[in-house]
Amino acid sequence: MPNVVVVGTQWGDEGKGKVVDFLSPQVDAVVRFQGGNNAGHTLVVDGDTLVLHLLPSGVLRAGCTCVIGNGVVVDPRVLLEELAALRARGREMGPGDVVLDPHAHVIMPWHLALDRLREAALGDRRIGTTCRGIGPCYEDKVARRGIIVADLLDPVRLRDRIASTLPWKNREIVEWFGGDPLSAERIEADFLALGERIAAYVRDATAVLHAVQRRGGSILFEGAQGTFLDVDHGTYPHVTSSNTVAGAACAGSGVGPTAIDEVVGIAKAYTTRVGAGVMPSQISGALGEQLQERGGEFGATTGRPRRCGWFDAPLVRHAARINGLTRLALTKVDVLSGFAEIPVVVAYEGVDSDEFPASLTDVRPVFEVLPGWDEDLTAARSLADLPPTCRRYVARIEELVGVPIELVSVGADRDATIRTGDLFTG
Ligand code: IMP
Repeated sequence: MPNVVVVGTQWGDEGKGKVVDFLSPQVDAVVRFQGGNNAGHTLVVDGDTLVLHLLPSGVLRAGCTCVIGNGVVVDPRVLLEELAALRARGREMGPGDVVLDPHAHVIMPWHLALDRLREAALGDRRIGTTCRGIGPCYEDKVARRGIIVADLLDPVRLRDRIASTLPWKNREIVEWFGGDPLSAERIEADFLALGERIAAYVRDATAVLHAVQRRGGSILFEGAQGTFLDVDHGTYPHVTSSNTVAGAACAGSGVGPTAIDEVVGIAKAYTTRVGAGVMPSQISGALGEQLQERGGEFGATTGRPRRCGWFDAPLVRHAARINGLTRLALTKVDVLSGFAEIPVVVAYEGVDSDEFPASLTDVRPVFEVLPGWDEDLTAARSLADLPPTCRRYVARIEELVGVPIELVSVGADRDATIRTGDLFTG
């Protein structure tokens, strides 16, 4: 059975959670390998909505192990909250169901405080982060002064790590930003208690994933955010602080690149972006708001409205190259019903189609206008059920991106999905 990486090809919110949930019955483990609770993965089953920020989107499938890999940054409170929310829905996740790698870095109170204070101080130049402490936590990881999950299970080590880090953080919080200092004793007590509560889930994730492989099982690597929020390949500096591309799946989980068989890119049938930063196909005015309203384009994590634009083929084509996409999943096609004409960006003026500009700030998109459709698509279960102009739209996107479409999503519900490819079956 194949091991599959699923990544976003735009600026996040492409519908990865739904696709991962849809594919999860065919895999033995779903692993998150980067990001943290800045993500918001929405699962809708029989009209019931579940939004996950940290746990992998395999949680609703019995027998699927949900792994939080070493590359993730973890807020232990959020992990416990999500487990409690699942329990309240009758889904008890035990240590056999959820695995947290001891090398994952922990989002500490100073990360949350500094994310907020820095963003506020930046004013118009802010990144528009989710204020979940993601950037400051990754910063400390790379600077080799972070606190990892294993530290929460060792009182002496935790005390030492807090004592060596907090004075610097408090200096920044108090002297630079005029904030209130954090208490080492309080944090130590809180995080030791949190450590005790998550201890049962802490296990070498690489061993779990390698055991799945030895048994001939399948692993699904669930990316968070999107390709153009990648800290290296994205629209820097308006990016997140981790590598979101498929290549990160290996480093963030401890599985070698030779184990990856397929890379599925998730692309929304149009484009959205939340937070600051350039978006060449952005639609201004009433039309953009109409798309925002119809698509329910409000952040699953922060509730912020997402800016909307038309499908940008050069963007997704570049994502196909740098992720090594083998398949594409096209989501939210149903949202485009009712538009008489649907423009698509087919090129950037003067830019070679095999290259991608270092900055998108000054690119001029070249549009092709395709005919729209009026029909409600949510009951469609095969391509033949789609109106001809919609089929043409899907086929044109496949052609422009140059990657075969594996599935087309026509509604938020798990069942509102058209399967066109043979991943796991062919
Ligand atoms: P951070 O990841 O919270 O540091 O935010 C950095 C940028 O990434 C901001 O523009 C956020 O809005 C964006 N971002 C982070 N996570 C997501 C996500 O899951 N979906 C969409 N945008 C995200």
